Amino acid sequence: MTYSTKDIPATGLPACWKSPSNIALIKYWGKLDGQIPANASLSITLGNAYTVTRVSASLHDTPGSGPEVEFRFEGEVNLSFSSRINTFLKSITGHFQYLPDVKLSIESGNSFPHSAGIASSASGMSALALCLCAIEAQLQGNETGTPGFYEKASSIARIGSGSACRSVYGGITVWGKHSDVPGSSDEYAVPLHFDPHPLFSGLRDTILIVDPDEKKVSSSVGHGLMKGHPFAASRFAQAAKNLSELLVALKSGNWQVFASLVENEALSLHAMMLASDPWFILMHPNTLLIINKIEEFRKQTGAKVCFTLDAGPNIHLLYPEEEANRVATLIESLKLYCFNEKVIEDSVGEGPKQLTCR
Ligand code: PMV
Repeated sequence: MTYSTKDIPATGLPACWKSPSNIALIKYWGKLDGQIPANASLSITLGNAYTVTRVSASLHDTPGSGPEVEFRFEGEVNLSFSSRINTFLKSITGHFQYLPDVKLSIESGNSFPHSAGIASSASGMSALALCLCAIEAQLQGNETGTPGFYEKASSIARIGSGSACRSVYGGITVWGKHSDVPGSSDEYAVPLHFDPHPLFSGLRDTILIVDPDEKKVSSSVGHGLMKGHPFAASRFAQAAKNLSELLVALKSGNWQVFASLVENEALSLHAMMLASDPWFILMHPNTLLIINKIEEFRKQTGAKVCFTLDAGPNIHLLYPEEEANRVATLIESLKLYCFNEKVIEDSVGEGPKQLTCR
């Protein structure tokens, strides 16, 4: 649908969204051109770890030559984030008729500290994509929050950061075509097509911060190293099979199967890094120590608790709400191996929210 940018008020058209981070249970690692995943992935959207972004679009002095961007992160000009946003905006200009005609003023901030070991690209890129789509909806006179709105926001977020496309929905989401997930697509994420067993409805994620520093090897380098990787084909097949089996466990409430698949995915992700050429290691000695302690605790107590890892050394401890008391003693004992005893409490969240712009 075409629209005119001439009517953009002098004060600008604003949009404001809060969007969460997510943690993958079935990992995306390896991609094709155009930010298309080599395998389907599944994640839980978090609740407490989110980004709030406000975008205001005003008419450019020379319409057609934009978008021009002014970006502030937590009140400060941030050159490295600005350059990433500029590259992102250039790559999506063709998807929004209004972008060449505007100046964008973008302000963003996270609910979690910058060096908390939580990937901020998923929450940051999804919040920005939602704002850009909300501005477009205003120009078109459309509602936000429709299925088409979220589908476009997810596909735009994907171009900024693959995993960001899964943050557009709450609960459990799937990105990438998979025969067991109706409507699944390589271009955008979809919410899980059934209600998971109640065991998973308040799933907790306690993040044990082993090292808060930025990772030494970026995800894009890691994805790149899957090209020509000796285990690539079997890894992609393993992920597809693990996803099929995880769907069954999520439906039936089988914790044992859930835990063994989730841990297999985490360790397979890191195994790919170990076997890349050149190899790289993102786990720290304390990551391995904590993993062994979790395994010991589970053997002793029979508690429903398992772990996953992102592309970094920090551990995401997953457990159902009903285990919170028992697992609290485990968490206390593991703080010793964390950076400054740091842990972040989170759980599965409801997904992004549109905020009233101030
Ligand atoms: O979205 P990217 O390019 O930052 O890659 C994410 C990769 C993992 O976090 C390791 C896995 C995933 O599916 O989120």
